[in-house]
Amino acid sequence: MILVTGGAGYIGSHCVLSLLEKGEDVVVFDSLELGHQETVDTLKLNFPKNFIDFIKGNLQNYDEINEVFNLHKIDAVVHFAAFSQVGESVKNPQKYYFNNVYGSLNLFKAMLEHDVKKIVFSSTAATYGEPEYIPIDEKHPQNPINPYGNTKLMIERILDDYDKAYGLKNVRLRYFNVAGADEKSRIGEWHEPETHLIPNILKSTFSGGKTFQMFGTDYNTVDGTCVRDYINVEDLINAHLSALDYLNNGGETNYFNLGTTDGNSVKQVFTACEKVTGKDIPVEVKGRRAGDPASLVADNKKAKEVLKWTPDKTLEDSVKSAYKWEKVLQERLERQAK
Ligand code: UFG
Repeated sequence: MILVTGGAGYIGSHCVLSLLEKGEDVVVFDSLELGHQETVDTLKLNFPKNFIDFIKGNLQNYDEINEVFNLHKIDAVVHFAAFSQVGESVKNPQKYYFNNVYGSLNLFKAMLEHDVKKIVFSSTAATYGEPEYIPIDEKHPQNPINPYGNTKLMIERILDDYDKAYGLKNVRLRYFNVAGADEKSRIGEWHEPETHLIPNILKSTFSGGKTFQMFGTDYNTVDGTCVRDYINVEDLINAHLSALDYLNNGGETNYFNLGTTDGNSVKQVFTACEKVTGKDIPVEVKGRRAGDPASLVADNKKAKEVLKWTPDKTLEDSVKSAYKWEKVLQERLERQAK
């Protein structure tokens, strides 16, 4: 049985979906502060024959997470639960250190208490900070420039120490920019408020949607807008399944970048969204958003070699599935508003 923390959130729910598709038994632990009950309900509805237990709880409460291990025989953990907004982390670091770091410490404590020694952890490209070179490989120095990145790096360090002292085998996956949704639109990206590029561009195509705001056109990049490496969420989750196999086969603690090696600028993403939707999307150019590095692109050789993982979806694939999902979400929200 696999425990997925944050399994009602965007990326975590796609992991639960893939695990269920593989026939795994899954326990979802989520506080529902950012995750959605509807997402869990959808997963349960779509997999009536699978075992899936949802436990609402907060990692900051040790008893709540420890109880999960009392109730279920957990073999491995995939740990998504975290706050992940860079700007918010600068304004309210305490919220991030308590939730991300202290919450993870409680999770690891409960794991050790119950002799669970395998974990896949969601880390981030934000642990590298301002890039010294591109593409970024795993040897790139880790110097985060905001509290969010600091929390994720601290957890990586804790996991190293816990492996040495307690044999807690872990794989840290450093995500670049995750995009897209389940191809069947059962689940998808659903943040309130939404800060990410692709959903924000797509939301501008719906009636009542806000004009899309493009942050900064004076960067030293191909067209002046920031370049990012957009990795499809289903490809990303495949790497988690490979990481679980890797740990189950006795793999040592390790860490990998998850990206495509392909950089796309904000303007290029915008053009892809106009192409996929067939609409002229209203756009307004704004100043730079604080803390945005000009370019972030992954070197993914290590994940390819060790995890035998290859992402195969394009940016356009991600925009297509994100758009399909966004339509489902908008209809749902309209229905709920009535
Ligand atoms: N952008 C806009 N308008 C918007 C939203 C975003 O122009 O409405 C721009 C941003 O300024 C940035 C690019 O689009 O240049 C991508 O922004 P996102 O917010 O989609 O993603 P980030 O690269 O800022 O952040 C992502 C994750 C973080 C993680 C970070 C790692 O969301 O959790 O990558 O660098 F920390």
